[in-house]
Amino acid sequence: MVTIMRGAEQLVCRSGAWGRFAAGVVLPRALPGVRPEGEVLEIGCGGGAVAARLLTDHPEIGVTGVDIDPAMVGATARRLRPYGPRGRAVRADCTHLPFEPASFDTVVTFLTLHHVGGWEDALAEAVRVLRPGGLLAGYDALDTRAARWFHRALFTDFRLAGYTELERRLDALGLEQVVVRRQAAGVIATFHARLPS
Ligand SMILES: C[S@@+](CC[C@H](N)C(=O)[O-])C[C@H]1O[C@@H](n2cnc3c(N)ncnc32)[C@H](O)[C@@H]1O
Repeated sequence: MVTIMRGAEQLVCRSGAWGRFAAGVVLPRALPGVRPEGEVLEIGCGGGAVAARLLTDHPEIGVTGVDIDPAMVGATARRLRPYGPRGRAVRADCTHLPFEPASFDTVVTFLTLHHVGGWEDALAEAVRVLRPGGLLAGYDALDTRAARWFHRALFTDFRLAGYTELERRLDALGLEQVVVRRQAAGVIATFHARLPS
């Protein structure tokens, strides 16, 4: 039962409708007042719709999408093919990224951390691979009754961060200019912060 629902969730995540939602609704709300720079890592790239939109909207950047699910990585690789060497997809667990420290100018993540389990470890890895002065930005569900209900209804594995927990974790990782904002009646948080130069 759980496997079927997970399979269904994966299909939804790779669907055109989800891609349009992620690129057209999530992305514009996820990066308020911040601009991805240089080499960008997207943690949990799903079907690659957001990565593709970033590459289209910011012709000066490169995007590496990582996902733990090989089917997602395949879908992202296909979607990023038209962008040539500017876009690539890598299979990896975001709590153990296969990249050298300080490899990326920007790390972004959208609606993924609550699926990771160890979202604290994912954020630590994001900081490890960021260059000094680099930007970390994300958009994720917060630990609210509505988000718990929604994910239980989907029979999906999840572990949601609380607003204060998220803010404290970003501070504890040594980031500066930490901004965490609630959206969508407090169900969602957007956050951004910089690694000191
Ligand atoms: C809800 S989807 C969001 C996908 C994409 N960010 C978007 O907005 O369309 C969450 C994604 O996180 C991926 N994921 C879950 N745990 C992961 C982990 N430990 N490392 C990397 N990716 C992970 C899933 O495979 C899935 O593609």
